[in-house]
Amino acid sequence: MEVKEAWHSFHPHLRPQKIWGYDGILPGPTIVAREGEPIIVRYVNLLEPDASSFGSPEISTHLHNGHAASESDGFAGNYFSPTKAGPTLSRPGKYYDCLYTNCYAGYDKWPDTDGDSREGLGTLWYHDHREHFTAANVYKGLAGFYLIFDHIDSGDEDDPSDTALRLPSGVGVYDIPLIIQDQMFDASGTRIFNQFDTDGFLGNKIALNGKIAPFFEVARRKYRFRVLNGSVARFYHLSIRHKGIDLPFQVIANDGNLLPAAVPMTSFGLAPAERIDIVVDFSAAPIAIGDELFLIDRIRQDKGRGPETLLSATGSPIMRFNVDRDEADNSRVPPLLRELPPMDLKSVRQKRHFEFERFNGVWEINGKTFDVEKPVFKVKRGAAEIWTLEGKGSWHHPIHIHMEEARILSRSGKPPPPHEAGRKDVIVLKPGETVKVFIQFRDFVGKYMMHCHNTIHEDHAMMLRFDVEE
Ligand code: C2O
Ligand code: CU
Repeated sequence: MEVKEAWHSFHPHLRPQKIWGYDGILPGPTIVAREGEPIIVRYVNLLEPDASSFGSPEISTHLHNGHAASESDGFAGNYFSPTKAGPTLSRPGKYYDCLYTNCYAGYDKWPDTDGDSREGLGTLWYHDHREHFTAANVYKGLAGFYLIFDHIDSGDEDDPSDTALRLPSGVGVYDIPLIIQDQMFDASGTRIFNQFDTDGFLGNKIALNGKIAPFFEVARRKYRFRVLNGSVARFYHLSIRHKGIDLPFQVIANDGNLLPAAVPMTSFGLAPAERIDIVVDFSAAPIAIGDELFLIDRIRQDKGRGPETLLSATGSPIMRFNVDRDEADNSRVPPLLRELPPMDLKSVRQKRHFEFERFNGVWEINGKTFDVEKPVFKVKRGAAEIWTLEGKGSWHHPIHIHMEEARILSRSGKPPPPHEAGRKDVIVLKPGETVKVFIQFRDFVGKYMMHCHNTIHEDHAMMLRFDVEE
């Protein structure tokens, strides 16, 4: 993929804006992968320094929720540019190759040629992770979807759909990735960014897949939407409105992972970097051809600290669905989706405690800011651990752990809600909340990171390096 500058239209009434994009588009191309089949992505960096704008042309691409070896994980210190050698170990010309194994049952089982893993991931995304510049670079456009399909469930080599589960399938047809990213436009209609706002940058317009107020023509049938919050600091609370009521839907996955069973819901919260997959049935009564439905957001948020109030009223529309036809539909949401892997709490030998807090305007974990050079701690590969994540102060922090999913054991002493009971790579800490998670790093050794995914907090520098070792 060529990482380069391009012009992008967010709306026909706004003039085109300069973006940085993977292959020059925003969002970047959707990569469709198959479990057990590794791929290599060559990121060719064609960015140039741009003094008139924001962002850094030095990049380090991370596959979010990927289980990649450290050198392919987009470590924040491993950036490089076309003009300047960075700390990246090898820099053949202007590109950097990342190997994504697409296999998640423990490294020992790789390559997973018989595809017997029951841990297939689904909705991942890739984005820049350059130290100090992640917020600006991702906002500028450096993000895209990466979807993985199980080959165990697929009958046809060329059809990467989960045929056994028979969920709505066909990427871009009935299986639709949606990235939501707020954007800031000044009075002259120019897109701007403020890197001096260390609370968390917020925009004044909401773009979905790079468009403000887009519409989508849907048939009266089921669709899968993979909703990703790709914003710097904005939280959303989403529902689908039809004639003044919230349409019920099924939540089938949280972050990259199918849930054990679908959870019927009418709205959900989504913090930066979280994903939720929902199946929406547009054939449900009383939806008729000609109807319009809206994906709406109900959060009021004026500061980077997190959502302030949940509005009871109509909220603000992000996207419109036009129901324009009937279509046959043999997709379904089966009662059981994917069993969770076993979790052996008795084998836990190590517990760790992390406090996320601002001190003198600096974002810290356990009183420290990010240090590329030294790991804060070392984890033994395969060892089961319990981590306690504690949000101090009045801020929300969506905490992301690289390389392995965690399971939420409790949120301030209470069990997690059903849609959070699966494997999570983003764990939202509300102000004053303490969340206990079970985690067991099984795949690769090397340096990895944990950080707040409010990317402004991450850049300033609520992030730590930990190493996985044999
Ligand atoms: Cu989505 Cu460490 O990143
Ligand atoms: Cu934070």
